[in-house]
Amino acid sequence: MAARTDDQSVAQRVLEHIERGTTDVGAEVWREPVANYRSEQRLGLELARVFRRVPTPFCPSASLPQPGSYLAREAAGVPLVVVRGADGKVRAFRNACRHRGTQVANGAGCAKSFVCPYHAWTYELDGRLRHVPHEAGFPGLDKKTHGLVPVHAEESLGLIWVTQDTPAIEPDQLPVLLRPEQQLYAATEFEVAANWKILLEGFIEGYHIRFTHPESFFPYGFDNLNLIDLYGRSGRITYPFRRIKKLESVPHGERKVEGLLTYVYHVFPNVLIITLSRHTNVVILEPVSHDRTRQVTYTLTNDAGDEALAAAKHDQDFVGNTGLVEDRAVVASIQRGMQSGANEVFTFGHYESLIVHFHRSLNAVLSV
Ligand code: FES
Ligand SMILES: [Fe+2]
Repeated sequence: MAARTDDQSVAQRVLEHIERGTTDVGAEVWREPVANYRSEQRLGLELARVFRRVPTPFCPSASLPQPGSYLAREAAGVPLVVVRGADGKVRAFRNACRHRGTQVANGAGCAKSFVCPYHAWTYELDGRLRHVPHEAGFPGLDKKTHGLVPVHAEESLGLIWVTQDTPAIEPDQLPVLLRPEQQLYAATEFEVAANWKILLEGFIEGYHIRFTHPESFFPYGFDNLNLIDLYGRSGRITYPFRRIKKLESVPHGERKVEGLLTYVYHVFPNVLIITLSRHTNVVILEPVSHDRTRQVTYTLTNDAGDEALAAAKHDQDFVGNTGLVEDRAVVASIQRGMQSGANEVFTFGHYESLIVHFHRSLNAVLSV
């Protein structure tokens, strides 16, 4: 697919679809075995071969604003802690004390060192083991080899990325996803009784907007009108708002799409960056089991300043209270419906092409 992702091209593509009553379509119909959503063994393969080997967003850079800022969370079932060192560099570690394994960090905060809550072995922000109380009790302990166990971490495109295991999978080439002026103002998480892929699929097609969201999103959007752009295994779906039609009267070179559409970036395998009019959500789908998913969301403003913050909160209430509740109801219904045994496969059609791309990519990485 040609990369026509700048504002003017996006506006042009959307206006052409509106005029013709068309949408971007895929070339292929995909049939995904339902068994792949219902198997703990399959989830184990996805976590080991895909999640832990692909560079994956862990949190926005804005989560670690200063030296000592840390954030502890599970990623692909593994407790990790990321921390900004005194040198400004972000590092990630397996969140387990090298004495008897207690997690050394909880939640988020700012620290000068990590002190294990059990017996107070103390680690520097760069992972080195600094202090062992009553060290004489451990004759021969080599402190140099008992630092926190590092995990590969990088900071780019406004996010902190971790790659837990090798051989690592090549990262996708993506545009800047978060800008430095965007302020992080909320972090939430909840669990949904569904496989992580069912949740993901609901974010990356616009075929359902009219029917699932008749009073929330549809009055502002279109029925089945989306752009699809691919970035390696990742992709972006564009949900234009009806008010984008006003660009018809704006000269081509002066068209700006901000505030006139929603971009949903799917960062393969399990992260979504959703840019709404006034705020941006970074959504991480963390599998808990084959039929449970923890949805972690970091919410940022789209600009600096108090006004941008107030606008973001206002906008967020609208999206949170209506559309996302409707999506969750569908997702839970699909998971329960799988018990019916009615479907051997789920069929994804030409209007669900980013989902098709996702399953094709997932299969490819699983087989490496
Ligand atoms: S388990 Fe951490 S100090 Fe003992
Ligand atoms: Fe939806």
